[in-house]
Amino acid sequence: MLAVAVLAAGKGTRMKSALPKVLQPLAGATLVERVLDSARNLNPDRRLLIVGHQAERVEQQLSNVDGLEFVLQQPQNGTGHAVQQLMPALEGFSGELLVLNGDVPLLRAETIDELVSTHRRSGADVTLLTARLDDPTGYGRVFADASGQVSGIIEHRDCSDEQRSNNLTNAGIYCFNWSKLAATLPKLSTDNDQGELYLTDTVAMLDKAMHVEVADPDEVNGINNRKQLAQCEAVLQERLRDHWMNEGVTFVDPSSCTLSEHCSFGRDVVIEPQTHLRGSCSIGDGCRIGPGSMLENASLGKDVSVLLSVVREAQVGDGVAIGPYAHLRPGADIGNQCRIGNFVEVKKSRLDNGSKVNHLSYIGDAQLGQDVNVGAGTITANYDGVNKHQTVIGDSSKTGANSVLVAPVTIGANVTIGAGSTITKNVPDSALALGRAKQLIKENWS
Ligand code: UD1
Ligand code: CA
Repeated sequence: MLAVAVLAAGKGTRMKSALPKVLQPLAGATLVERVLDSARNLNPDRRLLIVGHQAERVEQQLSNVDGLEFVLQQPQNGTGHAVQQLMPALEGFSGELLVLNGDVPLLRAETIDELVSTHRRSGADVTLLTARLDDPTGYGRVFADASGQVSGIIEHRDCSDEQRSNNLTNAGIYCFNWSKLAATLPKLSTDNDQGELYLTDTVAMLDKAMHVEVADPDEVNGINNRKQLAQCEAVLQERLRDHWMNEGVTFVDPSSCTLSEHCSFGRDVVIEPQTHLRGSCSIGDGCRIGPGSMLENASLGKDVSVLLSVVREAQVGDGVAIGPYAHLRPGADIGNQCRIGNFVEVKKSRLDNGSKVNHLSYIGDAQLGQDVNVGAGTITANYDGVNKHQTVIGDSSKTGANSVLVAPVTIGANVTIGAGSTITKNVPDSALALGRAKQLIKENWS
């Protein structure tokens, strides 16, 4: 039997944030979600989350995680105190308890798998993950012999100068024999600089403690402050970009771009500098995105170009050119071979294949057929101050420059709207519609 417990009750004082530390986001997911995810391969029998500071908020964020048990720690008197709170929930449980720090978000699932299997092979009471860090400041120091046997852990602030020179650090990730740990937890004391109950003190009390050193020290980066948050973000971003470069994506200036974990890319996509993809984005083969673009929950077909533009909650077909300076807002649904040009905003509107909105337009709550040509400066006046209304434009129609289409209004197919028109009535197929004052000429007037 295997139980996984994540320590997530701390306030995260050093973050100086209204948000509990474990809810801070990193590449689109919170720290605690990432930590839970790192144990995904193990199929644990139980999953427990120790909550305390802003417990309700943390529970709410994770309410959709199947089978997760919340254990309250109140007040938060240290990591040992946190694990003590598991005793009622794990009464009679036999097997291993994997303890994960909620603020160590870069662990790879394979590393956790290896920790647990090493623990099972060696029959130790506890096996913990360690790393040799160039700068171990702030981390607990692990004292171990050459065979990997650990004699104890001392927190940075409780170390002597000599002890601090040991750079073997505690990652905050432990696989315990639960019954051995449960017998040890009541013996913890607050005899340390912070006056807290330290989980790390159980290691010296158990008979056999072993450690596994990670190959990549970045994996055990803990987050206590904003600087460490930024460092972890940088590590994750590099991992994501490296992954996609291996899959055939070109980044012209990789370090200037950020991705979320829920992005997918086809072959021969080019990501130009200063481009950011958030949420879940899917990008087809041959797209060119950027420079200077932001996509969020966007889906692009093949061979789409997005230049200096923003695309959010929108869907785009194949061969579409977007920008420069276009804004596709939620519900924009663009067919194949369309064109969305400079200073064009599209919201909650469908454009069928081949339609073009090239310059200076607002298209909202509209349905455009195929091969519609929207003239420069055309506006759908969709809002009457209370409600939003629909504009419908049939296939192959053209709107003249500076037309205002006052919704609700339906314009048929093959219609031409004269430049400068304000259209308030429906227009039948194949008509010319003009809605502007007649031009007056007074000759020899000057
Ligand atoms: C801890 C370890 C340290 C290790 C480091 C790795 C202890 C005493 N020290 O130090 O050896 O090198 O992690 O990152 O364990 N938490 C609770 N309840 C509490 C206190 C903390 O749930 O009462 C949670 C926090 O939310 C956090 C985790 O435990 O997710 C670690 O707490 P933190 O205060 O950040 O410990 P560190 O000082 O980083
Ligand atoms: Ca920490």
